[in-house]
Amino acid sequence: MSADTPSNTSSFSIPEDIQHLYDQIELHNYRYHVLDEPSVPDAHYDQLFKSLKAWELQNPQAVSPQSPTQRVGAQPKSGFSQITHEMPMLSLDNVFDSDELSDFVTRIQERLGLNSDSSIEFACEPKLDGIAVSLLYEDGILVRGATRGDGSIGEDITHNVRTIDSIPLKLLGSGYPQRLEVRGEIYMLKAGFEQMNIQAEKVGEKRFVNPRNAAAGSIRQLDPRITAKRPLEMCCYSVGIVEGGEIPEDHFATLKLLNEWGLKINPYLIKVSDTQAQIDYVTKMQALRSELPYEIDGLVFKVNRYSLQQRLGFISRAPRWATAYKFPAEEAVTTVDNVEFQVGRTGAITPVARLVPVFVGGVTVSNATLHNMDEIERLDLKVGDSVVVHRAGDVIPKVVRVLLDERTDNVSEVVVPTACPICESDIERIEGEAIARCSGGLTCAAQRKEALIHYASKKALDIDGLGDKLIDTLVSKELVEKFDDIYHLSKNNLVRLERMAEKSADKLLATIERTKQTTLARFIYALGIREVGEATARNLATEFGFLNRIIEADEERLVQVSDVGPIVAKHIARFFAQAHNLEVIEALRAAGVTWPEAEPLDVGELPLAGKIYVLTGTLEQMGRSEAKVFLQELGAKVAGSVSKKTDCVVAGAAAGSKLKKAQDLEIEVLTEPEFIEFLKVHGVVLDL
Ligand code: IVH
Repeated sequence: MSADTPSNTSSFSIPEDIQHLYDQIELHNYRYHVLDEPSVPDAHYDQLFKSLKAWELQNPQAVSPQSPTQRVGAQPKSGFSQITHEMPMLSLDNVFDSDELSDFVTRIQERLGLNSDSSIEFACEPKLDGIAVSLLYEDGILVRGATRGDGSIGEDITHNVRTIDSIPLKLLGSGYPQRLEVRGEIYMLKAGFEQMNIQAEKVGEKRFVNPRNAAAGSIRQLDPRITAKRPLEMCCYSVGIVEGGEIPEDHFATLKLLNEWGLKINPYLIKVSDTQAQIDYVTKMQALRSELPYEIDGLVFKVNRYSLQQRLGFISRAPRWATAYKFPAEEAVTTVDNVEFQVGRTGAITPVARLVPVFVGGVTVSNATLHNMDEIERLDLKVGDSVVVHRAGDVIPKVVRVLLDERTDNVSEVVVPTACPICESDIERIEGEAIARCSGGLTCAAQRKEALIHYASKKALDIDGLGDKLIDTLVSKELVEKFDDIYHLSKNNLVRLERMAEKSADKLLATIERTKQTTLARFIYALGIREVGEATARNLATEFGFLNRIIEADEERLVQVSDVGPIVAKHIARFFAQAHNLEVIEALRAAGVTWPEAEPLDVGELPLAGKIYVLTGTLEQMGRSEAKVFLQELGAKVAGSVSKKTDCVVAGAAAGSKLKKAQDLEIEVLTEPEFIEFLKVHGVVLDL
């Protein structure tokens, strides 16, 4: 590059590696925006984009108008008519942590000539992961829907937006401007997305990669009948053109008004006036993220007052008055170092990919589950492959895709073992089952260890202090082998272990002693019978009352228990038919494990017999399924919707239409604390 900088950038030669970066970004852009088939996770794309931006910052004279940083999206797909946005649809800058967020606020204060203590009101909302669209209403009638496209020119999708139930064809109420452009995100609910993929697989069609691409693919259909079948929603987050009428003076009030006019807005929209409240919002939404029924990739903070927004203006493609707060990506690319096989509690052999460590979903991940042998085949995974790893919330990381385009000659086939890697017993795979199992049962150290962890866990015998690590040590030192060995541990045994002080040993022994008094439901669950979870164990305990009656019951009798189908019944009957399992139970009884047994109550005698309950909203102290089991135990039926027949509605946080209907019908409503009290009064033992 010459020292005397020419004004004409075209005389600059772009280094070859930067040209390569352009091409890569363009290719990903095309796949993402035009074909709706991204081949890499967003974070990977962001990284490429960031490298290019960094180079351009160092070489501002060399920025080509063709650089991917100089435009927002890609060209619209042909086949749709084009729409020129009267006001461009812009993008957002990003921040990634609270320091960057506070720098963003400081920049705004400075630009507005305010000192650092002055408060500015911000609207905070989730950043929905879908596709940006614009809706035009004239005299309250929906006349046009358009995609964002490259920000200036989008595609006409009027025929498709009309099929989405959350988009009103005619605005409600009155007072709206004669011409009103509403902007927002069209997205697909996670549950609808899963359903759609199950359906697609059934008919041999391709699966969509994620809900966002499914939404993008659905909205850009030439045939609106296809769009209509897709579970899409739209939430509004701003306005564009406003002519022949007024809107409020701030963003928050405008969105509330749009909501009154019949448009959907996000329920987590709030306004805040200080940095702490912004950070609290981030913390709350980050915790909620995996439970939301739709995907969000971050939050958006916007200066609330329009007059201030106007003073702040825009810089290239993004407003200065707003920023996206990006959450850690839930997907990342890494390499498979090896595939190993783990043995679970029921002997299930799970292949686990050992990965080159990668930061995903906020943590460093070096292992990811591959579920079963079929999954390896489905993914076409080989050792040495580049893969996409997904981790959301506290869910176990999993390999979701292999980047076949990037496969080299240095890959090798996954070798599936024929014998258990722990005890060398044969591996069995029942016809039609995806899971292969070690046939060693409790002779296999891995199964024994997992069974013990399960036995001591919170929902089973609840032996606080006897966790994973300690069990690992006790098993490897051969101090514990069978369940009842737990009850023969001595203080002498324990204090010799590393990191076990006398006090902790005493405490653990006291807990072991105390928890010998248990319940029949916990005991059944603790046995670790295949497919017998907490709820099934409770049902068995309630309906039989005595362990011996369960042991003696045949499959025919077992299927009469609620939630027990033929497969579960078979597992239960098989478990109790095995002599060594009965020996385990005898040994535990001999060691002093006891539980109250009593004649089960007749269903008709139960306190809530014949009553119909409905659960709605988010229960914070227990899951809905747990609440349902409690109610069923008391004899109630739990229905999904409120009607005149409903006797009572239990309403958790953010309860909506069901609560309203209950109030309209004057049906009894219990809040969560009232419900908990009610359960206690009826003798339900809660461990919340
Ligand atoms: S405001 C000028 N608010 O994020 C401000 N955008 O990177 C424009 N998005 O293209 C956008 N949720 O597709 C805004 N609550 C929200 C959003 C949101 C999702 C998307 C939108 C936009 C992109 C910006």
